Amino acid sequence: GDTTYKQPYRPQYHFSTRANWINDPNGLVYYDGEYHLFYQYNPFDSHWGHMTWGHAISRDLVHWQELPPAIAEEGSTMIYSGSCVVDKANTSGFGQAGQTPMVAIYTGAQPDKQSQHIAYSLDKGRTWTKYAGNPVIDLNRKDFRDPKVFWYEPTQNWVMVVLLPTDRKALFYKSTNLKNWVKGGEFTATDTPATVWECPDLVEVPVDGTMERKWVLLLSMGNNAPAGGSGMQYYVGRFNGSTFINESKSGDLRYVDWGKDYYAAITYNNLPRRGNRGAISIGWMNNLQYANDIPTTPFRGTMTLPRELRLAKVQDPMVRYELRQQPIQELKPLLGTSFQWTGTDVAQLNESLASNNLTGDTYCLQLELEADKTGVGVRVKKEEALPGKGEETVIGYDPAKQQLYVDRSRSGQIAFKKEFSGRFTAPLKPQNGRISLQIWVDRSSVEVFGNNGEVTLTNQIFPKPNSRGIEFFGSGLRSVLIRSVEPIWK
Ligand code: FRU
Repeated sequence: GDTTYKQPYRPQYHFSTRANWINDPNGLVYYDGEYHLFYQYNPFDSHWGHMTWGHAISRDLVHWQELPPAIAEEGSTMIYSGSCVVDKANTSGFGQAGQTPMVAIYTGAQPDKQSQHIAYSLDKGRTWTKYAGNPVIDLNRKDFRDPKVFWYEPTQNWVMVVLLPTDRKALFYKSTNLKNWVKGGEFTATDTPATVWECPDLVEVPVDGTMERKWVLLLSMGNNAPAGGSGMQYYVGRFNGSTFINESKSGDLRYVDWGKDYYAAITYNNLPRRGNRGAISIGWMNNLQYANDIPTTPFRGTMTLPRELRLAKVQDPMVRYELRQQPIQELKPLLGTSFQWTGTDVAQLNESLASNNLTGDTYCLQLELEADKTGVGVRVKKEEALPGKGEETVIGYDPAKQQLYVDRSRSGQIAFKKEFSGRFTAPLKPQNGRISLQIWVDRSSVEVFGNNGEVTLTNQIFPKPNSRGIEFFGSGLRSVLIRSVEPIWK
């Protein structure tokens, strides 16, 4: 098949593989000038199966180079999700004198058992050797997966968080050599909807405007997420070296994203220290309800934009810590020519777009809205040949309900699975009467960041290549900035 980056639904500034199936990002780690992106990959087909770690690298987290698959399925053992660390002190002993091993920690999945395995690379992640002593943790369980490992400075050891998905339980382990693991505490929550937990991450995140850092436990939910199907929730609290202690109020559930397509996001290990910069995450832009059915070929699956994670300390009326997510600043060099408007007359704005023939394939929109009006927003990827009837994806704010929404019920191809179509909402209150939106439009996705990352809505869309119109509506619009986004593929 055609393995260029030019197909109608091919993301132009999001990572996708030339061909075949991908799901979760795995082993996100920085080492020696390279950001690694491993991922669940089927080397043979564009449907889920033969799980292998695929591999791509980047020097800026934006432009990616796909490399040969890293860790291959072996016999009946598939290589499920996991993480990767840089073993600087050679605690594992996998390195010879002076060598720094990269160690991958993943789930070895057999039809009736999942256990934790490790593999190492001595050549910057290009080739991998599975540890002869695998598995390193085996509880004889059918469901036991998705280890995330990080170095814990205070006690100078490795920490693993790994799940019993169907029990909705996170288990913590520690190790000094990545081979022998000692059980620590457990975390479970009674306030979560009926779901399975997958792909956990425990990460320390800076709190805006303070010197504080808090621990965030990120959990993917296989079903019952707010937009339906799979999604992500999080808890904020402390880590005592042996378990996570939740400080979020019981019943006050926190979701990472309110769209339909945000799953299995984890954060980078070993990031170079840059001031008080937050954690950086990447997710899989898909939903388990229809991931195998989305109408792309010869590839299936896309990663989200990398995001910087921070926390805001909110007094409402009790103190609470809320996640704030922004597209990483490394994306800025992709932003090109811009169109700018300020005013109150939306009809005049639409006319000026039309007279400039301004349409868009890949671009970033920044809007300022006034929230005391009836309803306001923008239609993107509009099919202009059929005004009022054709394809469009609507992003808007409903001031009466104080909701931000994305409606993709007429966004293009939607019929491949009944769960795809819909309108998805996120709660969002105006700040000083205003709502600000940052909307990243690519060929097959729309990622919306409301009020500087207070809420996000991530959704796939599959419009016709010529559905490129942009049209604003409502009377509350105050300013618009449209900037083209340059493709990342050569
Ligand atoms: C999440 C998941 C993980 C598992 C992997 C297998 O999408 O089900 O729990 O490790 O995918 O591909």
